[in-house]
Amino acid sequence: MSYNIAIDGPAGAGKSTIARAVAKRMGILYVDTGAMYRAMALFMLREGVDPGDESRIDDKCREADITIRYEGDEQVVYLNGENVNPYLRTEEVGNMASATSARPKVREKMVELQHTLAAQSDCVMDGRDIGTCVLPDAQVKIYLTASSAVRARRRFDELEKKGQPCDLETIRKDIEERDYRDMHREHSPLCRAKDAILVDSSDMTIEEVIAHILKLCER
Ligand code: DC
Repeated sequence: MSYNIAIDGPAGAGKSTIARAVAKRMGILYVDTGAMYRAMALFMLREGVDPGDESRIDDKCREADITIRYEGDEQVVYLNGENVNPYLRTEEVGNMASATSARPKVREKMVELQHTLAAQSDCVMDGRDIGTCVLPDAQVKIYLTASSAVRARRRFDELEKKGQPCDLETIRKDIEERDYRDMHREHSPLCRAKDAILVDSSDMTIEEVIAHILKLCER
């Protein structure tokens, strides 16, 4: 049986940075499930699908073949044979992913892929429903969060560094709306699993969070 660590939490809590670092230090795989939903969202955007058109999303998702390969330390997402990693981290794709990931047909497809990866390798998997739905038997479950003000500030700094113009209040509003959608959707909403350990990173540095999680895994 493989060793799995599940990290869930809202957008901008630092899940991917922390999950990647924990995986690297433990010498196991990092599985970024958000990137899979983002690849599906990119497909929908390219096809001109309206985020509110549920039946079209259900229909279209059958045409998207999403696979994962590991190239060095990097998880590479292929959408119908194309490496789409460079297109996944935009606000537009993130917002579309929040809408399309609410559809059970989309989730079914992605969860199947996640089960295969987790069964094949020891891994740290991050997302919204990993501890609750995808890997309910994960050996360690973390619910990583931070206040929306802190998360918005981190995202703002990140975008500024990249030279992308942005507005702090707009980012904060976007984050709060996405939290609401992710937490209130009918299927696999974001919530803390009963046996997940709560880690609030609002007043912690990345290094502190990584060290804390590594300690929890040692136990
Ligand atoms: O973590 P992220 O920002 O890359 O995720 C993008 C969207 O995908 C997010 O709004 C919710 C959705 N998602 C999900 O529903 N389930 C997951 N396991 C991971 C992400």
